[in-house]
Amino acid sequence: MPHLQSRSLRVYTDSLEYLDQTRLPQAETWVRCASPEDWQVAVKSLAIRGAPLIGLSAAFVLAQYAAQHPGQENEWQWVSDRLRATRPTAVNLMYCLDVMEACFAQGPAALSERAAALFEEDRELCLQMAERGADLLNDGERVLTHCNTGALATAGVGTAIGALAVAKKRGVALHVYVNETRPLLQGGRLTAWEMADLDIPYQLIADSMAASLMAAGKVDKVMVGADRICANGDFANKVGTYMLAVVANYHKVPFYVVAPYTTVDKACATGDDIPIEQRDAAEIRGATGAFGDVVWAPENAPVWNPSFDVTPAALVTGWVLDTGVFDQAAIVRGEHCR
Ligand code: MRU
Repeated sequence: MPHLQSRSLRVYTDSLEYLDQTRLPQAETWVRCASPEDWQVAVKSLAIRGAPLIGLSAAFVLAQYAAQHPGQENEWQWVSDRLRATRPTAVNLMYCLDVMEACFAQGPAALSERAAALFEEDRELCLQMAERGADLLNDGERVLTHCNTGALATAGVGTAIGALAVAKKRGVALHVYVNETRPLLQGGRLTAWEMADLDIPYQLIADSMAASLMAAGKVDKVMVGADRICANGDFANKVGTYMLAVVANYHKVPFYVVAPYTTVDKACATGDDIPIEQRDAAEIRGATGAFGDVVWAPENAPVWNPSFDVTPAALVTGWVLDTGVFDQAAIVRGEHCR
């Protein structure tokens, strides 16, 4: 029996299992993560993904490594550095590893307890921001979302999807438009699957349909997650989010970002300072690996493949954090950083 469990993570005393998100929704496959190397492969391939989940799983991997290699602080640091470099954009990974590193001197048992505390904390943060996000949703509204921000991506109910789930629990009837989320289809594969699981009516759309959907007056609100929120309120999220924010602004559709305080990076002044992960060209030229085996572009077509984009604060109606809902004025005052 795992002593901690979420929708996509099972934590045992001396090992970790994750739900392979590259195989969803076709198969629910749990995979053992036995080493930092296993974790790196899983995170790079997006088998483990979503800002909070990346950080939490790294904390458990580091704690387990320390338990297997007691008294080797220099090695733990080396492992932590390697985990940190695996995906650069989601600051939750840095947050969790900072917390773990601050605990190195206390030894393996303390590290394991700390990782468990981070997991429990995220579960609680999810609930708090989901309640606040749900307060913004009214009966009959149509909400557009991007990527996957649900239970799969966190220890709890999720961020933006968490708000939809809590609203549903309160009896608020919603209709959700799910952007499929090119190039890796986290919306089409994972959010669609979670909507069905939550019994929330939804329609899947290709990302390029969002503008005409809003022009047709079919979207009341946009809600997305974040991988890093800067001191000035700019934020990084799955590529395509910026385009949605621009279109929402043009059509006067309120645009909300939902995230825990662990996604806020006070040290990052503006979006220009966020490191953006570049991914393999094959993801744009076709679908490979667990996603299939088809190449639709010319074999060597030059590709630009940033995994995230930055949405400027000016396009955001509200930042929904566990600590509160912040408007533009509150962001300028830096209230989200306290
Ligand atoms: O590349 P991914 O799938 O890890 O990107 C995930 C996102 O962009 C999410 O919106 C973000 O991590 C917030 S999830 C709670």
